[in-house]
Amino acid sequence: MAAMSLQLTVVSLFLLGGVLTFPLGQESCHPTKPDMLNVHLVPHTHDDVGWLKTVDQYFYGDRNDIQHAGVQYILDSVVDQLLKNPDRRFIYVETAFFYRWWRQQSSSMQQTVKQLVNEGRLEFVNGGWCMSDEATTHYSAVIDQMTMGLRFLNETFGPCGRPRVAWHIDPFGHAREHASMFAQMGYDGFFFGRLDYQDRARRMMYREQELLWRASDSLTPPMADLFTGILPNGYNPPEGFCWDQSCDDAPIRDDPDLEDYNVDDVVKRFLAIAEGQSAVYKTNHIIMTMGSDFQYENANLWYKNLDKLIHYVNAQQANGIKVNVLYSTPSCYLQELHRTNLTWALKNDDFFPYADDAHDFWTGYFTSRPALKRYERISNSNLQVMCNQLEVLGGPVSRRGPFGVGDSKTMKEAMAVAQHHDAVSGTEKQHVANDYARRLANGWQHCQVCRASHDIVFIVTEKCLSLSQFSVNVYNPLARPVTWPVRLPVNGTAYVVSDANASSSSLSSFQVVPVSPATREVRRSRGFAVNELVFQVQAPPLGYTTYSVSLLQNGPPPASTQHHTPTAIKNKVLNHSVITYEHFLQVTFDPDTGLLSSLSNLETKQTIKLTQNFYWYNASDGNNVESIQPSGAYIFRPNSSTPFVISKTAKTESIQTPAVQEVRQWFSPWVSQVVRLYADSRALELEWTVGPVPIDDDLGKEVITRLDTSIQTAQYFYTDSNGREVLQRKTDFRPTWNLKQSEPIAGNYYPINSRAFIKDDDDQLTVVTDRSQGGGSINNGSLEIMLHRRLLYDDVRGVAEPLNETSGIFPKGLVVRGRLLLSLDRPASAADAHRPLAQEVVLQPLLTFTGGDLHPNTRLEFSGLQAALPPAVHLLTLSQWDKDSVLLRLEHQFQSWESKVNSQPVTVNLQKLFTTLDVLGVSELNLSANQWKDEMKRFSWTPESGTAHLHLSVPSLQHIRT
Ligand SMILES: *[C@@H]1O[C@H](CO)[C@@H](O)[C@H](O)[C@H]1NC(C)=O
Ligand SMILES: *[C@@H]1O[C@H](CO)[C@@H](O)[C@H](O)[C@H]1NC(C)=O
Ligand SMILES: *[C@@H]1O[C@H](CO)[C@@H](O)[C@H](O)[C@H]1NC(C)=O
Ligand SMILES: *[C@@H]1O[C@H](CO)[C@@H](O)[C@H](O)[C@H]1NC(C)=O
Ligand SMILES: [Zn+2]
Repeated sequence: MAAMSLQLTVVSLFLLGGVLTFPLGQESCHPTKPDMLNVHLVPHTHDDVGWLKTVDQYFYGDRNDIQHAGVQYILDSVVDQLLKNPDRRFIYVETAFFYRWWRQQSSSMQQTVKQLVNEGRLEFVNGGWCMSDEATTHYSAVIDQMTMGLRFLNETFGPCGRPRVAWHIDPFGHAREHASMFAQMGYDGFFFGRLDYQDRARRMMYREQELLWRASDSLTPPMADLFTGILPNGYNPPEGFCWDQSCDDAPIRDDPDLEDYNVDDVVKRFLAIAEGQSAVYKTNHIIMTMGSDFQYENANLWYKNLDKLIHYVNAQQANGIKVNVLYSTPSCYLQELHRTNLTWALKNDDFFPYADDAHDFWTGYFTSRPALKRYERISNSNLQVMCNQLEVLGGPVSRRGPFGVGDSKTMKEAMAVAQHHDAVSGTEKQHVANDYARRLANGWQHCQVCRASHDIVFIVTEKCLSLSQFSVNVYNPLARPVTWPVRLPVNGTAYVVSDANASSSSLSSFQVVPVSPATREVRRSRGFAVNELVFQVQAPPLGYTTYSVSLLQNGPPPASTQHHTPTAIKNKVLNHSVITYEHFLQVTFDPDTGLLSSLSNLETKQTIKLTQNFYWYNASDGNNVESIQPSGAYIFRPNSSTPFVISKTAKTESIQTPAVQEVRQWFSPWVSQVVRLYADSRALELEWTVGPVPIDDDLGKEVITRLDTSIQTAQYFYTDSNGREVLQRKTDFRPTWNLKQSEPIAGNYYPINSRAFIKDDDDQLTVVTDRSQGGGSINNGSLEIMLHRRLLYDDVRGVAEPLNETSGIFPKGLVVRGRLLLSLDRPASAADAHRPLAQEVVLQPLLTFTGGDLHPNTRLEFSGLQAALPPAVHLLTLSQWDKDSVLLRLEHQFQSWESKVNSQPVTVNLQKLFTTLDVLGVSELNLSANQWKDEMKRFSWTPESGTAHLHLSVPSLQHIRT
């Protein structure tokens, strides 16, 4: 029997895979000297998978007028130089680039490179497709992009190609969930370059720049423990020692017969730097990153000088200098740290927000380019459904046909590239952002081919919906049934909707409502329907159902709207000041202002005061006595801590039908919202529309919505980490150092990937977002979320463009629409509601349409599962790995403290899981599927006493019993 017990983690399984064993990789690190200070020189290049240029422009070295950078030449040149001297080392990080280069090499060059890898002279670190952003990515997309890069390395180089070290030298702050994932992917350690300047200062003083990160409060240590090292100089070489063609530092001039002999000077400066560095680290080993952005295009310059540096510094050992310099790699350095058998400071929180100076908080990019952030999120959902799940469930048929398995590759690569720390983060130039979006759009096209073979025809145009008869296929990617509201643009005024059993049980469950003026405005010329047909669909787990829709020629007119201008009619109770469906939620509005005024959960009998409105901060333009830092793509710096209200009142219009009730609020020509309650929903939907953000006053603006409640938060609030575990936050506070707060708003912003909440003993208000956004709780009881930003200045971090988005459809400035889902629960059971809710937004049902009557043999309903999975278990990945095996990831999604019921361990019977797959065998892998679980042997590290927690070592999984 193939049953397994899950405990608060994600497990990766190959169904039908065979088990092989590998020899361990060869040790190839240069020897060190125990009685000396060992300086590990790590030659490296930092190659952004798109930033100022597109990923392909960077690969080829195109558009060097924007930035001189060509990755193909870097790899050519480095390989050549490695062959010249076997002592030399190089690390390579971004598989997106390496893969492009590898495919263009001759087989003899490929052999040569394999040998360099086997001998440890070329080492892969990190090894994902890109170096992902940590603030704005969702864990499922990060796991996918890491899996893709690491798979290529394993299949190309075997075990010697498996990176031992995670390397995030550039991302702008570090998420705890990333550390947890890296630990579960089998990495022995993690290095990064950026952290808050106050945090760094304290860690330098206490020699805590190397630490043990306990990255989960639910997994049994050391499952999510990750040794973490903070690099001494970002990821740059020490000052005066940059020997790239892009640098101006003096080369080593070592011929005493020539002028300007400088060896003595170089050695002296180097020894001074090494000594300074060793004073702030704990062991007799230190690391120096010898490289930077797109360096080593002419690697000879670097290596020739490094060879000499090593030679001349080590020559001083004869004179009693106790410094030993060597070519090294992060894994060789890590191995030496491990050998010291010291204890390390323990850290439980994360590295957000990141500030590199008092007024320079990198919290703007949490929200930058909100439209791209949403597009990336929906693309992930589509990838999981169309390219992954349907390929497995549809069986070989869906993979044959003219396009073959390769169809999902375009989408997978586009999504992987989009996780880069200048992609979904929104910190790239405009033309590069356009390129990321174009790649995703291209991926969508390719995956649609797979869908057609799944005997469903997909036409997503108004044309299809204008027919008097059409059907809607709803595919649910989650492993439990979902109920989901559907809204279709139509012109008719009355329809009959019937489900797969041809029953249209209650006519009240489908309604026609008029398209709102805000929707007309935002869709522009991309649609003309005057009404929306609204109904709830119920779809089976991991499967689909079909609804058929027919126009009623002489039906009743659509629901009518009631208008209301606030304060116009005083002292009159307006019928739209309450929206409710008797059993779940009740929402009240203040008739004087048109704003939300309270929210009640009628099941749990809770009510809170809740006012919600829209505001903006004026962006600093850099003309400021305290600092010249402006707000930009990375940095959020309001020029005042009090936001401006867009309007104190909203004009409203309400619609009440048995299926949906809406209050449409109009705040200004560029801000509107629909407050929407569906009949069967336990969450209140706030559909906001913001833009074009006005800039005629020559001020950049950062638009927020703020929820002010009666909840007593005492400065605490909670945000998720990459969509997975939740972290507690406290205003004006950091858990590991005494914060000197210098930006009362920006310094209190944190990334929100899928949800945030505030709570007290009685009430918890959870906000589920539809994309990554920044937010904070500045005042007691309040939660604000930044929705959109439009800025007129560059923030001097390299992009050299203001974040001032326009498009063909929105030439006057981008209009962005999104949704927040609000739920009010008792704190003890809130996770039972918001975990599944957040998931439904991340992995949303896929709708497809067929005009006219369906073929009589069409299967109207299907589920890939024999039964729904228990609520604690999320089916994270189901994807065809190769011809004979499928990659399955099952995730226990509740934190240990979150839910009485759902935090408990669960058992899943794999043999009885699927309806269309026979499970013949199961092998368990690490999280990134590049190592068998039983071969995972990570370094173990000891936390400093006092910080260590004692835990019994309970294995997280029971191994497969047969
Ligand atoms: C490491 O230190 C522990 C005590 O802290 C000791 O028991 C152990 O033997 C040491 N291991 C090595 C390899 O020195
Ligand atoms: C609605 O009518 C408009 C104008 O005739 C037409 O362009 C559009 O395609 C129709 N849409 C639907 C869904 O019927
Ligand atoms: C912002 O975009 C608008 C619309 O394209 C343009 O008129 C304006 O000059 C831009 N401002 C800046 C500072 O780039
Ligand atoms: C690594 O690649 C080899 C060679 O292709 C393959 O046989 C093996 O199954 C892969 N290992 C894992 C864990 O996927
Ligand atoms: Zn970078």
